[in-house]
Amino acid sequence: MTDNQLAAALGAWRRPDAGLARALADAVGDATLDGRLRVGSRLPAERRAAAALGVSRGTVVAALGILRDEGWVDTRRGSASTLRLPPAATTRIAPSSAIGEHGAIDLRRAVPAAPHASYQRAVLRAAERSGPVLAESGEAGPGLPELRSLLADRYTAEGLATRPEQILITSGARSALALLSAHLRPRAVAVEIPTYADPLAGFRASGTRLVGCRVTADGWDLDQLDGAFRTAAGGMAYLVPDFQNPTGALMPKAARRTVARLAERHRVTVVADETMRDLDLRDAPAPVQRIPGSLLIGSAAKTIWAGLRVGWVRGPAALVGELAHHPLCEPLSAAPTQQLVATELLRDLEPLLRDRRTALRRQRDHLSGLLAGDDRWRFAVPPGGLALWLRLTTERADLVATRARARGLELSAGPSFAADATHAHHLRLPYTPPISTLDRVATVLDLACGHRDPQGAG
Ligand SMILES: Cc1ncc(COP(=O)(O)O)c(C=O)c1O
Repeated sequence: MTDNQLAAALGAWRRPDAGLARALADAVGDATLDGRLRVGSRLPAERRAAAALGVSRGTVVAALGILRDEGWVDTRRGSASTLRLPPAATTRIAPSSAIGEHGAIDLRRAVPAAPHASYQRAVLRAAERSGPVLAESGEAGPGLPELRSLLADRYTAEGLATRPEQILITSGARSALALLSAHLRPRAVAVEIPTYADPLAGFRASGTRLVGCRVTADGWDLDQLDGAFRTAAGGMAYLVPDFQNPTGALMPKAARRTVARLAERHRVTVVADETMRDLDLRDAPAPVQRIPGSLLIGSAAKTIWAGLRVGWVRGPAALVGELAHHPLCEPLSAAPTQQLVATELLRDLEPLLRDRRTALRRQRDHLSGLLAGDDRWRFAVPPGGLALWLRLTTERADLVATRARARGLELSAGPSFAADATHAHHLRLPYTPPISTLDRVATVLDLACGHRDPQGAG
């Protein structure tokens, strides 16, 4: 392509929220995705591209570095850079319900789509290896030894020495929590406000008292945490310390130590839900500590696919042994054939995670960019996870959600995430859909929210 074709395809690519190299790289990626730049075509030489775009050669070199790292260009030594589509861009990144292919865009659940090709290959490999499993009774027990070993090895590699006997496989993180709750039977549970809504419903259904402690994008309120643990003394705490749902907050190391101290002082069993832990979207990810002494629950729901229905508990071997004998263990376990599929996928998780993080980072930044600088809402760009947590400055979230629904966009309002039904002005906005759907999401939000559309649509 000529330098003029490049400049014309990119149009006005500079953005106030990003450096020149980042903005240029994003613009090249977007132009490739929607066909303005042809996959397989060669970018002009650096010096000519710089002149055509009105930037320094250093900016072009830096943008090419980003594009190369993210898989948008191939550069052979001494020759031009060729455009290509990175694997993440060629696979479906959100379920069709979240893209609006069946009508409304449904973002009440923040769920990425299955990695189709890898998943189908894993199913085939699992089927080929299913003979020994199919020869058994079908009882899952604590889980397939191979899967328990694989997960134990992952914890150990992260610095938390773990034996397979310390892992119990369940049908997802919610089953892991349900089993732990059924076994521990806490009188009261400390929970974050806001938090993942489903466990709240589970605790309420079993008559467990909920005690809240506030968490915002800025972190955990340690005074409230102290009060909550005091009230829940002898009971349990359900926390999501890593890229918390819905705030995206990451619990600092010092707060984790405080939680551990409070837990010991008030005899509270801490269950840390690590479902979001691998969705670290920071530019320079650093290792994330754990809350010392906590029981861990995990899931493949966000890193692979919610429909896989495989999760786990990591705790002391004695506790895992007791859980394995609980009457609910079998009904809450994952089907052995699903465990085989999970084993195949978890064995080589890193490439899938890399693609997922790249896609989510782009989508998070795109949606943040669309919503930035508008005084009808406030939000912090989260360091990880799947959603923006918007505080509306003028409107109630349920009204906005109703108007958005009338315009074909389903969202969850704040109170469903809050044990005390607060957060009436908050809205969770998942950035799981692709860029073109996020553009529609921002347009609907604009129309559903505030003075530009005083009558609303609902
Ligand atoms: C914090 C958290 N834990 C767990 C899950 C999913 O649990 P499961 O593995 O049961 O699908 C979600 C899904 O939204 C979540 O946000």
